[in-house]
Amino acid sequence: MSSHATPVPMTAHRSGPLKGVAQVPGDKSISHRALILGAMAIGETRITGLLEGEDVIDTAKAMRAFGAQVERVGEGEWVVNGVGVGGFSEPADVIDCGNSGTGVRLIMGAMATTGITATFTGDGSLRKRPMKRVTDPLALFGVQSVGRSGGRLPMTIVGAAEPVAVSYEVPVPSAQVKSAVLLAGLNAPGETVVIEREPTRDHSERMLAGFGAQISTEVRADGARVIRLQGRPELKPQVVAVPRDPSSAAFPVCAALLVPGSDILVPGVSRNPTRDGLFLTLIEMGADITFENPREEGGEPVADLRVRYSGALKGIETPEERAASMIDEFPVLSVVAACATGRTIMRGVKELRVKESDRIDAMARGLEACGVTIEEDEDTLIVHGMGEGGVPGGATCATHLDHRIAMSFLVLGLAAQSPVSVDDGAPIATSFPVFEPLMAELGAKITRGGV
Ligand code: S3P
Repeated sequence: MSSHATPVPMTAHRSGPLKGVAQVPGDKSISHRALILGAMAIGETRITGLLEGEDVIDTAKAMRAFGAQVERVGEGEWVVNGVGVGGFSEPADVIDCGNSGTGVRLIMGAMATTGITATFTGDGSLRKRPMKRVTDPLALFGVQSVGRSGGRLPMTIVGAAEPVAVSYEVPVPSAQVKSAVLLAGLNAPGETVVIEREPTRDHSERMLAGFGAQISTEVRADGARVIRLQGRPELKPQVVAVPRDPSSAAFPVCAALLVPGSDILVPGVSRNPTRDGLFLTLIEMGADITFENPREEGGEPVADLRVRYSGALKGIETPEERAASMIDEFPVLSVVAACATGRTIMRGVKELRVKESDRIDAMARGLEACGVTIEEDEDTLIVHGMGEGGVPGGATCATHLDHRIAMSFLVLGLAAQSPVSVDDGAPIATSFPVFEPLMAELGAKITRGGV
C-alpha cells in the first residue's frame, strides 16, 4: 500500500552533461498483467524484470488476497502459483490498490465473473478517479457494484456467479477498460468481444495468447479493432521476461535531449508500436535518438536507445490518433516542448484529465509558474516553446500525488535557468523507485528538499 502521508519535496538544478547507461525498471503495464494472469493460470509462472514499484507491489498483494501464492525470489524475480480461471477466493479484507488505476481496474475485471465479493480502495488520487468506465461493461456480465458518488472508490464489486459473455465497444480509448472486459471474459462461457475504435496498448492481448487463451484481433475496414476471446480456457503458466518501460525511459531520454553535451544509452526498452508515440514525436522535433540492437524479448519488440543532446528542437503538432500511443508521456513531452522553438500543439488529450491527476491542469500551472506560456482547452494543450536554455524555472510545482508530474518537472529543472522544485516526489516510487539514484548516476543534480 502506498502511503504518501509525508510529502517529499525535491529540487532539480541545471546540470552538466548526462552520460552513461540508464537501466530503467520493468514495464508497469506488463508487470501488472504478468501477476494477474499468473494468478489465473494453474501452476507456476516465473517472472523476471518485474517492476518493483508500489503500484505493482499492491497488485501482488491483491493477488495473494484472492488466493494465489506470490513470492519474490530475487531482484525483479517473482514466482506466482495461480488458482486458475474462476478460482479466486473471496478476500478477507478491503483490497487497497494504492495509486494504481491499472491495478484496480484490471483486478476488478479479473474477479468480476467469479461468485465472490470484494471491496476496493486506494490513495487520495485513486479515490478521485472514475470507475464507472469499468463497472458499466462489467454490469453486462451480470456484475453488481456499489461505490461512492460519481462511481468512485471505495467500491464493492459483487461478482457474477453465472456470468454471460458480452460484446462491448469501449467508448473511450482505454487499455484498462479493454483489459478489464477481457479478464472478465475469461470466466464467462462463450465468446467475449471487445471493439476499440482507436488502438490502445495491446499487452493484455499478447499476454493472454502467451498464456494459452484463444484470442484474436481483426482490424475492420473502418480501422476499429475487434478482439475476440473464448471464455473458460485453462491458462498455462508461463515464463515472462518483462521488458523495460518506455514510459519510464521517457524521463532520462528527455533529460538527455535537453541537457547540453549529454549522451546516454537506455537498453532493452519496449518498442511496442502501441507505446511508441513519444519517440516518434521527439524524432519529428529533431531529437537525436537511435534504436540499436532491435530484438524480441518476452513477446515484445525491444531495442537499446542511444540518446544525444539535441539543442535545436522544434515545436510540432501531435495528431489526435497518436495520443493513445503516448498517453503517459504528454507531461514530459510538454517539458521538452517548453525548451523547443515554436509552439507544440497536443491534440486529443482529454484522457489526461482523469489520470493520477488532471495532467493538463498540473502541467499548465507548473509550466506557467516556470515562466512558460500555455493555452489549453478540454482536449488540447499548447506549449509556447522558449528555445534552448530559455525556460526561467525558479518555481515549486504541485504534483497532486502524480509520479509523472513530479518526474517531468524535475527533468525541466535540469535544463531551466533556475532550479525547479516539486512539492512532493514521494509518488515517484509508484513506477520508478530507482529514479533518484539512476538520474544521479547519469550526472543529474536532483536534491531532496525545496529551493
Ligand atoms: C494502462 C493504460 C493507460 C495508461 C496507464 C496504464 C494499462 O490508461 O495511462 O498508465 O496498463 O492498461 P488508460 O487505459 O486509462 O488510458
